[in-house]
Amino acid sequence: MLAKILSATAIGIDATIVEAEIDVGPGMPSFNIVGLPDTAVQEARERVRSALKNTGFIFPARRVTVNLAPASLRKTGSDFDLAIALGILTATDQTRFNSDRTIVVGELSLSGEIRPVHGILPIAHALSKEASSYRLFVANANAREGAIAGKVEVYGFRDINQLADFLNGNQAKNPVTIDPQSLFHHTNRDDDLSEVKGQRHGKRALEISAAGGHHLLFVGPPGSGKTMLSRRLPGLLPLLSLEEAIEVTKIHSVAGLISGDRPLVISRPFRSPHHTISDVALIGGGQWPRPGEISLSHHGVLFLDEVLEFKRNVLEALREPLEEGKITISRASMTTTYPAKFTLVASCNPCPCGFLGDTKKTCTCSTSQIIRYRSRLSGPFLDRMDLQVEIPRLDFSDLSSNATGENSEVVRKRVEQVRLIQRERYQKEGIHLNGEMKVRHMKKFCVCSREAHDLLEKSIESLALSARAYHRILKVARTIADLDRSEKIDIEHVAEAIQYRTLDRKYLEF
Ligand SMILES: Nc1ncnc2c1ncn2[C@@H]1O[C@H](COP(=O)(O)OP(=O)(O)OP(=O)(O)O)[C@@H](O)[C@H]1O
Ligand SMILES: [Mg+2]
Repeated sequence: MLAKILSATAIGIDATIVEAEIDVGPGMPSFNIVGLPDTAVQEARERVRSALKNTGFIFPARRVTVNLAPASLRKTGSDFDLAIALGILTATDQTRFNSDRTIVVGELSLSGEIRPVHGILPIAHALSKEASSYRLFVANANAREGAIAGKVEVYGFRDINQLADFLNGNQAKNPVTIDPQSLFHHTNRDDDLSEVKGQRHGKRALEISAAGGHHLLFVGPPGSGKTMLSRRLPGLLPLLSLEEAIEVTKIHSVAGLISGDRPLVISRPFRSPHHTISDVALIGGGQWPRPGEISLSHHGVLFLDEVLEFKRNVLEALREPLEEGKITISRASMTTTYPAKFTLVASCNPCPCGFLGDTKKTCTCSTSQIIRYRSRLSGPFLDRMDLQVEIPRLDFSDLSSNATGENSEVVRKRVEQVRLIQRERYQKEGIHLNGEMKVRHMKKFCVCSREAHDLLEKSIESLALSARAYHRILKVARTIADLDRSEKIDIEHVAEAIQYRTLDRKYLEF
């Protein structure tokens, strides 16, 4: 007999329906899966056979053929185990199942337990957009994640027996419901800005970065607070909206980072990969593309501590996503696009010993050592860092002072207001932040006063800045003017923005 069961799989952060046709017919006992399955899907045969036997069902001693359609789509992983098992049970009349509007996704253990799989939220979200309404059968541990999408009736099951009992009418079960807003209790972060003593410039740069979405580089001696400052950036960004939270969760779900008790990512990501990371782990990819750190930082912060220790090819690979806000990974098997809109924060010492430019301690590095050290940070990469800020060693008076600066919430409120200005300004432009402006936007929205224009012209010439640097200075000046509630970009806004591009000069002219 023939059974048809619908399943689904995530592709990128979207999903597609996969139809499993299961034919149980006469012939020598065999079990084959066709339709471009990879090894993990082939292993499904062993899992399904054992799972059915170990839960008291009969695995037919006949010819079993499973066809996964569409055949053109590469199928990976163990998402289809449950659909295949259910198909065999239906084809052999061991369960009654009408699969018309039901999607079945789950991995099986040898004992028949249903295990969670990656990418349930993308699947549920894609189904919720369809005109007709669907039911989704998943593992208990996946049910809350699936229910976040809304509109889809999500049922969670412990094992095949429980699912069969439900289908045969022996056990009633309600779909899992969840109110995403109720998960959205915003807890205060541990890292508050008020804990950072002194470092006025560093804090100001953090605020500008948060307000306009500008990338940031901190340079300074060891122990001056670069890492400490960087960790406080997510706390200055506006709280995630539900829509953003779902987008972030979809990416984390595909990467397998979502657990049943925390089905929604509710705070902005802060990813801090170690400098030994490979380009594939950072950017995304692999034979079956997976999101990398840049996509896991979507709507949040990617922090590269000790940036000069990262391999050069890894930093170079960042250039394209930094401009595009997304990454497209092409493999023979498939092409996948992941969103990657993040704020990059990097930190490094000015030289190998760390004390170049220090007023009290002398740098012990030779010129060639410094040049070799610096050369790891390529010009094009440095060019993309909008705010390059020196973080000097703190004086004892600053460090021991009891004065507390503004806390993160106060700064975040200001940031939120400036972001509101930008949202209104760009509502017809398809962008949200000053940092995302293209040249055509700058012509329209970066109107400079005469003095500001003159200063810009002089600085570009005297500092020999590139065209990209010029545009980036303008964008930062736009944010500084917004923080100042000024429609026009004035000389003081441009002067401050230029000051964030002069660090390289200072250290190179030692
Ligand atoms: N401005 C500051 N206010 C309060 N504490 C600070 C400050 N700067 C540094 N510290 C203290 O010093 C510790 C080290 O700071 P942090 O790790 O941020 O330095 P760093 O600049 O990243 O150093 P490295 O170059 O070695 O990575 C912090 O955990 C904190 O306890
Ligand atoms: Mg550090």
